[in-house]
Amino acid sequence: MRKYVFTLTLIAAAIGLTACGKKEEAPVAAPAAPVSAPAPVILVGLAIPETHVERWVGDAEFMKKDLEAMGYKVDVAFADGDQSKQNKQIEDMVTKGAKAIVVGSVTEAAAQAVESAKKAGVPVISYDRLITGTDAYDYYLTFDNFKVGQLQGQAIKDGLALDAAKGKNITLFAGSPTDNNARFFFDGAMDVLKPYVTSGALKICGPAPTNSADATWSKITTEGWAADKAKARMETLLSGACKSVKLDAVLAPNDTLARSIIGALEQDGKYKTLPLITGQDGELLSAKWIMEGKQTMTVFKDTRVLAKGTAQAVNSIVKGAEPALTVKARVDTTTYNTGKKVVKSFLLEPVAVTKDNLTKELVDSGFYTADAVAKGTK
Ligand code: BGC
Repeated sequence: MRKYVFTLTLIAAAIGLTACGKKEEAPVAAPAAPVSAPAPVILVGLAIPETHVERWVGDAEFMKKDLEAMGYKVDVAFADGDQSKQNKQIEDMVTKGAKAIVVGSVTEAAAQAVESAKKAGVPVISYDRLITGTDAYDYYLTFDNFKVGQLQGQAIKDGLALDAAKGKNITLFAGSPTDNNARFFFDGAMDVLKPYVTSGALKICGPAPTNSADATWSKITTEGWAADKAKARMETLLSGACKSVKLDAVLAPNDTLARSIIGALEQDGKYKTLPLITGQDGELLSAKWIMEGKQTMTVFKDTRVLAKGTAQAVNSIVKGAEPALTVKARVDTTTYNTGKKVVKSFLLEPVAVTKDNLTKELVDSGFYTADAVAKGTK
């Protein structure tokens, strides 16, 4: 039986050939692909300073997503505001074979880990905060931090109509003394406000530095950008140096601290109408409070764009090339001095946000949904 079937098949094949009139060509086998290993996956480390300030969680997420889309493997580590923890995380990244590390530092002591990374041949990019006290890295990506402060100062100048005013009262807060940015924010704000302090249009209650180099600057700083420290300091001011004045404004360096200062003012009960209060970062709860009129303004820094530019810079430097960015950034080779060298910096533009343009900047841009802003949470 089996033989019979086989014979029939041969006959059918012969008929088929005859019907076509010519012999069918056998399919040509594709040339064998050269045997090669898959491209090695390149590891990139992201050392992020803290999570108690909301933005940093987004910075990490955005950068991870951008780098993964370029084919990199990404290791993210949050330092919880602890520099020795971060140094250990950076060393671990080097040990794991990272080919580049992005560092948003906690303090100047990040320099040690950056120097060991350099010795191991791993380039570091300084992210958002300048890593000071070292020359062991070449690039810094951030926002124009002086401009952030100027936008805060401008909001106070406009809001209190300082050109026409006399004796308006303000108290001053600055960020963490361990964060190089804190000086830029303060000096930018004072660049706008100092002439009014000099003329007497603006009176400062509490410590009154007009520059971050002044000895009294340390008295207005907030170690570790800690909300509870700012709140405690505001309470002390309200029952002490600012007790007998009506505050017209508070210079608050970011949203986390602005909200804790507002908390202290509300708890104090003296203010039926809150003073003008500045901020920074466009945090969600502050966005809600701005719409409600509790916080006056914030400075929005679109961290999606900073993350994208940084991912592009990483992609260049792992190939041994100069950072090539498609995002809009101003190259600055004079402003950011680590104390050991002036670092080539890429500066993005911050935007002042009030009730008037909040929807445009934060919602229409897709950063938040209108619903999240209304709720103050995601
Ligand atoms: C950042 C701010 C942030 C602050 C506290 C600064 O270095 O530039 O955006 O609010 O740190 O985390």
